[in-house]
Amino acid sequence: MKPAVPAFVSLVALVSVCHAAGAAGPDAAGQRPVTISGSADPKSAGASQPAKVQDGQYTDRNGDPTYHVSDGGRKVDWYTMSGYVRYSANCLACHGPDGLGSSYAPSLVDALKGMDYAHFAGIVVGGKKDVSAAQDLVMPAFGENRNVMCYLPDIYTYLRARSDGALGRNRPPEHEPKPAAFTKAEDACMS
Ligand code: HEC
Repeated sequence: MKPAVPAFVSLVALVSVCHAAGAAGPDAAGQRPVTISGSADPKSAGASQPAKVQDGQYTDRNGDPTYHVSDGGRKVDWYTMSGYVRYSANCLACHGPDGLGSSYAPSLVDALKGMDYAHFAGIVVGGKKDVSAAQDLVMPAFGENRNVMCYLPDIYTYLRARSDGALGRNRPPEHEPKPAAFTKAEDACMS
């Protein structure tokens, strides 16, 4: 895990990855983003409605990562699936199974309501300590932890689906195929 990536660099890299996903024009693999119109999928209505999908990654009209749940809630996009796995490995110990919270840390199903990606990323990168809280509870800074930083949009996407009630508890039974662009970005981020 050494040398660690400075928090600032990680955040900038991730935000630009996200913006790249939302940008128009062909990507490195030559695949054009698809603009989604209408509301064919009632599970992702409102602000979380995908406006665009590129290489299997869905974004809303603000360019924030969002989920795609289909087959009556049984099937999720690859990033939501990845987010479930990364959440369970890195966040569950404090925030509880399925984001529901614990006696130690708040429910992220509740906290994610209306929280945009930039705000979420800021908290996870830099940590958080409520100075007025009676208990001494600290959200650690993950800015130098690649197992979290390389999958930050994924974790956000998963929690957003949980927060919207589009996704139930436990591991999603099915997922869309793993995009080649995911593997490429993962290799670049983790190496
Ligand atoms: C060691 C325990 C611990 C771990 C691990 C942890 N958190 Fe936290 N987290 C906390 C605590 C405690 C708070 C509340 C801090 C406060 O309000 O001052 C918090 C707060 C948050 C908040 C803000 C919630 C709000 O209401 O504003 C977010 C978002 C968050 N955590 C995301 C994550 C994610 C994503 C992960 C995994 C990558 C994670 N946390 C891992 C303990 C933890």
